[in-house]
Amino acid sequence: MNKLAALHMRLGVIYAIIGMTLGNFMGASHDFTLMPVHAHINLVGFVSVMLYGLVYMAFRDQPVTRLMKAHAGLAHVSVLGMCASLSVMFLTGQAEPVVGIFSVLTLLSMVLFAVILFGLTKKA
Ligand code: HEM
Repeated sequence: MNKLAALHMRLGVIYAIIGMTLGNFMGASHDFTLMPVHAHINLVGFVSVMLYGLVYMAFRDQPVTRLMKAHAGLAHVSVLGMCASLSVMFLTGQAEPVVGIFSVLTLLSMVLFAVILFGLTKKA
């Protein structure tokens, strides 16, 4: 489990750096067009992903399952896809359907995590 925990925590802290960099640019330029992207990369990217890592670290004696790997893939593809498509939408007014698709995938990744967490805590 340690490797999966490390992957989530490493990617989580990278999302934090991207989100905070964007926050600094917004503050310096007084251009808040991408504020929703800043909020989502910090909260769905950094906070949620870091929590995935910390939860897996707490259950590090448990084996990594295929569901956990599928969740990791879906979680990172969907957070990156959602933030990228949100950026396009707020900059150009286009891509709303793509934002919708990635929003549903982001929700699905949290549902998968709920299934994983219920399984892990049942054994705890
Ligand atoms: C270097 C760190 C950060 C900087 C410089 C920064 C900067 C900013 C700025 C300039 C705004 C726009 C404020 C406004 O016009 O109302 C903002 C909004 C926001 N930030 Fe950050 N931020 C940082 C870190 C974070 C983190 C770590 C999170 C969450 C974990 C976060 C979540 C949010 C949210 C949710 C909003 C929207 C607030 C609203 O809608 O009123 N930020 N941030």
